[in-house]
Amino acid sequence: MVETFEPGLAYGNTYRYFVWVCTNPASRQFEKCDIQEGEAVLNAFRQILQQKGLGREVLVASSGCILGCKSQGTTVAIVSNTQPGIIFLQNVLVQDVSQIIQQYF
Ligand code: FES
Repeated sequence: MVETFEPGLAYGNTYRYFVWVCTNPASRQFEKCDIQEGEAVLNAFRQILQQKGLGREVLVASSGCILGCKSQGTTVAIVSNTQPGIIFLQNVLVQDVSQIIQQYF
């Protein structure tokens, strides 16, 4: 039997947002995100969200290619539990993360 569920409500978690940060390590024929920056952006999201007390509301995960590849920075996708659509951000650098968190969460 197949069941459907609201992702943010699965297992009783409290996540309102999901953030995927591209840390794609694969070499590809087209331009790709800066992998080192991707890891740094991922860690910055986790650290700043914890500091702001949002760690239980925003789930942050690394991702493969989101198809927004740029050689500078990395691509980030944000999905809300309550709003339709996906927000895609390109060229995200560590210094952008605090502003993104302030703007979207
Ligand atoms: S390699 Fe990062 S979005 Fe494609």
